[in-house]
Amino acid sequence: MLKPNIEAALNKQVNHEMAAAYNYFAMEAWFERENLAGFARWMRIQREEELVHARKLFQYILDRGGKVELEAVAKPNADFKAAKDVFTRAFEQERANTRSIHAVYELAVNEKDYATQQMLQWFIEEQVEEEKITSETEALLEMAGDNPSALLLLNEKFGNRQPDAD
Ligand SMILES: [Fe+2]
Ligand SMILES: [Fe+2]
Repeated sequence: MLKPNIEAALNKQVNHEMAAAYNYFAMEAWFERENLAGFARWMRIQREEELVHARKLFQYILDRGGKVELEAVAKPNADFKAAKDVFTRAFEQERANTRSIHAVYELAVNEKDYATQQMLQWFIEEQVEEEKITSETEALLEMAGDNPSALLLLNEKFGNRQPDAD
């Protein structure tokens, strides 16, 4: 059985993943309105990944005989001025999510919950990738600045993203 504090932390993490998905949903809409369909597609795939993350945690809580408690998902803040701002926000969000996952991991260590530690290893690795891609993209958009050709080239490149196999 899951200890109540681990169960609560995992439920909170489900909410973080749902909030991340909802934020990426807002970012997709922003890019679509800016006619940057490549970045919009990237955001769609990213949002789908976050839903998979929420689902993994949801299933794990159930597999351990815990109770899933779903909370309200916060309203996204989507008043971006430029493509770069979107990725600045995305990078911040991923760093916050990394801290959140690390906190759940630390709790699992303190509680000697080895199964939860093992399950969270996947998330810890995933966050390395998430932070890398969002920070790299922010840097590329910073470099592109006000140059439309550079922005369109990046839009094209990011539009080639394929969904992960998992
Ligand atoms: Fe995630
Ligand atoms: Fe993420």
